[in-house]
Amino acid sequence: MEHKGTKRLETPRLILRAWRESDAGEAFANWMNDPEVTKYLTWTPHGDVAITRALLKAREECKRPECYHWAAVLREGDVLIGDIEVRAVDEYQAVGAVAYCMGRAWWGRGLMTEALTEVLRYCFEEVGFYRINGVHAAENIGSSRVMEKCGLLYEGTRRKAYRLLLTDRRVDIVERGILREDYFARRKGSDQTAEPVSSADTRRN
Ligand SMILES: CC(C)(COP(=O)(O)OP(=O)(O)OC[C@H]1O[C@@H](n2cnc3c(N)ncnc32)[C@H](O)[C@@H]1OP(=O)(O)O)[C@@H](O)C(=O)NCCC(=O)NCCS
Repeated sequence: MEHKGTKRLETPRLILRAWRESDAGEAFANWMNDPEVTKYLTWTPHGDVAITRALLKAREECKRPECYHWAAVLREGDVLIGDIEVRAVDEYQAVGAVAYCMGRAWWGRGLMTEALTEVLRYCFEEVGFYRINGVHAAENIGSSRVMEKCGLLYEGTRRKAYRLLLTDRRVDIVERGILREDYFARRKGSDQTAEPVSSADTRRN
């Protein structure tokens, strides 16, 4: 892999860019303090914008090339609407895991599918990941659809594997993943672009 970090990415409706501490007020107001957004997540609503600010300060300071964490900004109106990252990056395995969330006001418009499609393109075509993992609560239909539409295949369900932080209720967790060959096969199907020969494994061998 050739790590390139949180490079600015663009989609028809979104700009994906690095986080800034000054995003705190907008992120807090738009989703980071909303229990409906955090319902299935591994963190709880911030409660105080100072928590958001401290978090975003750390993100702004993370300049490591293996750090992939974008703020999603709607081009129309220049509004900060969400968050998408590739975390748990394992260098030797060339594997990472996607995670994302977005303000409720923008759900159901295909925006996270658009963001994840571009992040996957970047991961496979520019950075050289071999595999991207995704997990979601089985009952989180929106997230399930986003991953499905972006080509992350169903690989199994871990029964009652996660206890929701706000309600203590245990939920099943679905495991998904997309391999580089899956990605390029999908792409080839849609626009005839072949996998580049200088892929990560080729370089390593
Ligand atoms: C998950 C989330 C990012 C989806 O973002 P989004 O921009 O609304 O997703 P998209 O519009 O690209 O696609 C969502 C799809 O799920 C469907 N969907 C969403 N919620 C649904 C529900 N409760 N029941 C059935 N379908 C649902 C939408 O209709 C759409 O389907 P379609 O494209 O087949 O019509 C957003 O709901 C969110 O931020 N949720 C809270 C945080 C979260 O759960 N993050 C993921 C943790 S794994």
